[in-house]
Amino acid sequence: MSPPPSPNNPPAITALTEAEARLELTKLAKEIAHHDHLYHGLDAPILDDATYDQLRQRHQTIEQSFPQLNLPDSPSLKVGAKPLSSFHKITHASPMLSLNNGFDEKAISEFLIRTRRFLGLDDDAQLAIFAEPKIDGLSASLRFENGQLIHGATRGDGEVGEDISENLKTIADIPHHLRGNTVPELIEIRGEVYMERADFMTLNATQKQAGDKVFANPRNAAAGALRQLDPTITQKRPLRFFAYSWGVFSGTAQQTLGGNIHAARHHFQQWGFPVIAPARLCRTLDEIMIFYDEISENRSQLAFDIDGIVYKVNEIDLQARLGTLARAPRWAIAHKFAAQKAITRLKRIAIQVGRTGALTPVAHLEPVNVGGVMVARASLHNEDEIMRKDIREGDHIVVQRAGDVIPQIVESLPDKRHTDSTEFIFPHHCPECGSIATRREGEAVRRCTGGLSCPAQAVEGLRHFISRNAFDIEGLGAKHVASFWQDGLLREPADLFHLHQKKERLRQREGWGAQSVFNLLAAIEARRKIDLPRFLYALGIRQFGLESAKLLAHHYGSLDNIMRAMADACDETGDAYATLVNIDQIGGVMAKDLLTFFNNPRNLAVIDHLLQEVEVDSFKTEHQHSVITGKTIVFTGKLSLMSRSEAKANAERLGAKVAGSVSSRTDYLVLGQDAGSKATKARALGIEILSEQQWRKLCDENAI
Ligand code: IVH
Repeated sequence: MSPPPSPNNPPAITALTEAEARLELTKLAKEIAHHDHLYHGLDAPILDDATYDQLRQRHQTIEQSFPQLNLPDSPSLKVGAKPLSSFHKITHASPMLSLNNGFDEKAISEFLIRTRRFLGLDDDAQLAIFAEPKIDGLSASLRFENGQLIHGATRGDGEVGEDISENLKTIADIPHHLRGNTVPELIEIRGEVYMERADFMTLNATQKQAGDKVFANPRNAAAGALRQLDPTITQKRPLRFFAYSWGVFSGTAQQTLGGNIHAARHHFQQWGFPVIAPARLCRTLDEIMIFYDEISENRSQLAFDIDGIVYKVNEIDLQARLGTLARAPRWAIAHKFAAQKAITRLKRIAIQVGRTGALTPVAHLEPVNVGGVMVARASLHNEDEIMRKDIREGDHIVVQRAGDVIPQIVESLPDKRHTDSTEFIFPHHCPECGSIATRREGEAVRRCTGGLSCPAQAVEGLRHFISRNAFDIEGLGAKHVASFWQDGLLREPADLFHLHQKKERLRQREGWGAQSVFNLLAAIEARRKIDLPRFLYALGIRQFGLESAKLLAHHYGSLDNIMRAMADACDETGDAYATLVNIDQIGGVMAKDLLTFFNNPRNLAVIDHLLQEVEVDSFKTEHQHSVITGKTIVFTGKLSLMSRSEAKANAERLGAKVAGSVSSRTDYLVLGQDAGSKATKARALGIEILSEQQWRKLCDENAI
């Protein structure tokens, strides 16, 4: 039974009768006009932007669903009404993944070998691979219920994107209603928003004539158009869409999508979407490489920019078995085109100080067009690299861009060297705080020893703390963080949560009004409760990304457990240390960084201050009720029902932890053929031993 409608839970628009819609439109129009008056007329808004935007969006959606109700006081007819201040967030029903990259035939061959092995297939077994160009645009997810477009979102961080429904609806390639008689009850269509090259050129010419911003490439132009808060601007931009994938859907993969990518594309077309052409179903590495060569040679003749070819396992049930690793599916790979290069002059080398104190040399270049993107900065990695490549300020250099990575300096061209080129002396003091900068033995990086007293490190740490995958606090730009730090408003993360006591000081700052202070404080308040992976990631531990944070959260369950384990693990001969390094993908190097971080009193104080302000949720796996959840499993011997990798991935999907060796913390040892010493050790420790068949049965019983 659905809950009764209330202001927070308004009735579904599809359930409204025309009379109800008329009534609600009138009511909403009045309400919106009232808030417009408070905002524009009196400069005293009482609603936060998000709530105001919700009113506007509901009004607009009802209006679109009942176009016959042309009410004269519609806020959508009003000029000067408040535009959307920001997009709402949408949590994707299934995450939007990225793709692993390969740059040559060897990488693709390895992908095929890996995939066959995972599936337990012979190296020469048939495996159908679907190949299609990788569009250089922006991915979007479109949710359709009973064939009707409900909303559309950006990829965001893969888990949560932004609601850009109104903008997506202006794209002619996106149907608002799916066509045909095979439309499922529910489906999320995923694909790429892009701009054709010819349209991009025309757009830029028009922009230039009008004295408006010109875009560096079609992708940037498409991104700019999608980010417009006012959809009437988006509508004027020539955006297009290709469907190439899906998120959640009702029914089985066979019924709804035809069981494979080839068939799914057929459905997409029937429902009204364009799909990418040329595309090809390949059966061997040779066929794949022929397709790759054909496309890369004729790349410039395509109407749109592509940056590689995507190869995907065609059968959807095989995709499901392969699953995902970190943020990318095991069943696909992007074969990227070779890097694009250009020659320009290196004006000077500047030193940037990062969050961990690393001094990074950055090349400032005479701006140059590299494959459609203007490049003015490039990475030089570290001081050894500058020496090794003999790169000097004033030199002519080759710069390259490969995929999404930061542009790199490939080499200098000494033949073109002028006498005024000067050798670069790498500083031994931090340019930001003057502290000594040292190099640890065996490390290429020179680091400032100033710690949090170094403004660059402190400010970078705070920027990381509020960044999208961390506390995700909107309304506080990089420049603000630096100036808040300077003025002593923000010295450590916990200070964010004291800002509400300094409202007056904030309002008096240049460029800040009542509304922006209100928005910032609201964004901060919304983060007083945070999930464990985000919290861990926000701490900015060296080499520690969101995926590693999730691993740690998954293994230890709560912050308390982690802190205790990290204190115990200082003893490298103890159980706690063994457990830590035994976590798959956390090796000795990462363990060292974790232990250094968690055993530094200054970091513990930062955490302690934070915990007085925020509540950290314990980690919940997707499979709360499985008896396997949280259990530690060790596999040994040769498995016969599936490959070791698939068994391990399966166990993790059910919420189990997979360890490499048997200890007193092991819950189950799964025994394949020819098991050796692990079985003996498990018996000695009294650990439950399962045959492969028993393990499989347990998994099946707990599958959801
Ligand atoms: S398949 C990962 N096919 O490239 C889920 N992706 O760099 C399946 N992309 O996030 C994606 N063209 O948004 C697929 N023909 C294509 C694509 C494509 C562009 C995007 C996709 C992904 C990104 C990874």
